[in-house]
Amino acid sequence: MSLIQTRLSQQITQSPLQRIHHPLLTANKVTLSIKRDDLIHPSISGNKWRKLKYNLLNAEAKGIKNLLSFGGAYSNHIHALAAAAHLFNFNVTGIIRGEAHYASNPTLSQAQAWGMQLQFVDRKTYRLKAQQDYLAQLALDYPNTYLIPEGGTNAFAIPGVEEVISELMQQIPQHKIQQIDHLFTATGSAGTLSGLISGVIKHSPNTKVHGIAVLKNAEYLNQVVPELVPNATQVNWQLHTEFHEGGYGKVSTALAQFCQQFTAHTQIPIEPIYTGKMLFALWQMIEQETFAAGSHIVAVHTGGLQGLAGLKEQQKF
Ligand SMILES: Cc1ncc(COP(=O)(O)O)c(C=O)c1O
Repeated sequence: MSLIQTRLSQQITQSPLQRIHHPLLTANKVTLSIKRDDLIHPSISGNKWRKLKYNLLNAEAKGIKNLLSFGGAYSNHIHALAAAAHLFNFNVTGIIRGEAHYASNPTLSQAQAWGMQLQFVDRKTYRLKAQQDYLAQLALDYPNTYLIPEGGTNAFAIPGVEEVISELMQQIPQHKIQQIDHLFTATGSAGTLSGLISGVIKHSPNTKVHGIAVLKNAEYLNQVVPELVPNATQVNWQLHTEFHEGGYGKVSTALAQFCQQFTAHTQIPIEPIYTGKMLFALWQMIEQETFAAGSHIVAVHTGGLQGLAGLKEQQKF
C-alpha cells in the first residue's frame, strides 16, 4: 500500500449524512439531508479533498514529490492543498493572486505553517493560469512538479467527487430513503457539479443534480460540464445562475441572516460564500414549491469553513 493509501485509510473517513428537521420541509412534504463533507477531515475537508485525492495518488504513482497550484488569498483550495501536502509529505508551492501583505491572513498563515511556499503574482499574470505558454514557463521554473489547476478541477477530480454518490447509495437506506430525487451543490468552477453528475449517471440515474452558481454571469459553466462529463445529458443536471446574491464573495444581508438562522436551527456551521449561498437558494426554491410532494433532497456541505476567519477579518460576515 502506498503512503497516501495507508494514511487515507487511517485518517480520512466517510462523511455522515444528516437529516434536517424544519417546519418549511414538513409544510412542503419534502425531506432534506445534508452530506457532511465538511467533516471528512479537520483540515482537508469538503469538495477540496474529493478533488485532490486522485491528483495526489497520481502524483505519488508518478514519483513526483512537488506540487504547485493557484488560488486567491483566502482560497479554500490553497488551504486544503497545503494541509494535504503536509499530511502526505509533498513539497508544495501556491501561486497566489494579489500582494505579499496577504501572507499574514488566516488562510495563508496556516498554509505557510504547513510548509507551503507562496509566490504572489499580480492579477494580470494570475489570469494566465490556464494558458499553455505560462504553464510551460512554470514547468521550467518548477521542474519535476505536478501542476493542479485552480480549485483542483481537472479530470482527476471527477472520480474523487463520484465517491460522494457511492457513499450516499450506502447511506440512504438507513434514512429510509429509496432514491435521491434532487442533489444540490454550490458551484464555482463546476468540478464538483461535474463529478456528482458523473456519479449519478453511474450509480443513481434518477437523481437530478443542481448546481447553484456562486459567481455572477456563470452561464459559461453550462459548456464546462460536458467537457468534463461527455455523457451528461440535461436530464441529469441543471445549473442555476440566478442565486449569486451580487457575485462571488458578496454577502447580502438576507444571505447573512439566512446562514445565521440555519446554523442556530441545525447546529451545522456554514459559510456564506458556498454552502450558505447554495442552501439559501434551495430554501427559496422550496418556498416557491419547486419540488413535488414526497421529494427526497440531499445537499452537499462542501466545507470551506476555514474561510470564516478571513470573512471576519474583512468584516464581511
Ligand atoms: C467550499 C467550497 N464549496 C464549493 C466550491 C465549488 O466547487 P467547484 O469549483 O468544484 O465548483 C468550492 C470551490 O470552488 C469551495 O471552496
